[in-house]
Amino acid sequence: MTERTEAETVAYTVTDRIAWVKFNRPEKRNCMSPRLNRQMGRVLDELEFREDVGVVVLTGEGTSWSAGMDLKEYFRETEAQGLGATRQAQREAYGWWRRLRWYQKPTIAMVNGWCFGGGYGPLFGCDLAFAADEATFGLSEINWGILPGGGASKVATELMPFRKAMYHAMMGENIDGKTAAEWGLVNESLPLAQLKERVEQVAKVLLAKNPVALKATKDAIRRVREMTYDNAEDFLIRAQEAANSFDNDGRKEGIKQFIDDKTYKPGLGAYDVKKQPA
Ligand code: COA
Repeated sequence: MTERTEAETVAYTVTDRIAWVKFNRPEKRNCMSPRLNRQMGRVLDELEFREDVGVVVLTGEGTSWSAGMDLKEYFRETEAQGLGATRQAQREAYGWWRRLRWYQKPTIAMVNGWCFGGGYGPLFGCDLAFAADEATFGLSEINWGILPGGGASKVATELMPFRKAMYHAMMGENIDGKTAAEWGLVNESLPLAQLKERVEQVAKVLLAKNPVALKATKDAIRRVREMTYDNAEDFLIRAQEAANSFDNDGRKEGIKQFIDDKTYKPGLGAYDVKKQPA
């Protein structure tokens, strides 16, 4: 098969306000080349503020989610062009993972197969992650003679207990989806045949929530991890007040539908955002 064009390295469809974004180099197990990284940046730009998109799901075409960085195009060929090209390729890769971490819309990683090394960057970039039991996760860097760079070491220690992160990084052994869920790399693991349905179910729950509150919440959960309790308390007051200026009526409507209208209970589900005055 001839090599895909840059535009073809990422595919997406939007259905019922869910954008299904796919790594689309199945013949290369969706490893991330500079071209794919540039295209992901463009696709994320395109989807971020679209009115008809409420949730973004990142998944992979074929048997792989992503086999990590492209050893040929990302490492060997850029290194051959010198430090400038290497740094450029790093900026393009790290750039879209950072975009994902702070993305406007909620994001879900749907890990359908192989997930290696550099793939941990976008995995952590997504707010939630669901894996197939059949998926395979590995920090394979040690197997080919480098450290888990591009954030992968950081992701391992952010998501896993210290001993597990160290074992995972040093041993170069793979784990399946179930173990990835036990170790904290993903929220849940379930048979591949049920994966999409479950992700769709989760996406639908998110679509029914107040979007300003969702963005404020996902940012808050990421930010407070590195703060002292007092700094977090202060940050959260300010973050809520900033959210209020974007969405003054949301929480008032939420209180009204519970206290006055008695149409829902916040402990049991979300208020009806569609009834909120525009
Ligand atoms: N970089 C470059 N090329 C890669 C790649 C990567 N990370 N992962 C897969 N490919 C290419 C292979 O070279 C092969 O190319 P070819 O058809 O031109 O020979 C093609 O994708 C298919 O890969 P193959 O190894 O035949 O598929 P498989 O299903 O038997 O095995 C993996 C899948 C993921 C286990 C295996 O491809 C692999 O180990 N990849 C590297 C994973 C890795 O260490 N990533 C970390 C990088 S930081």
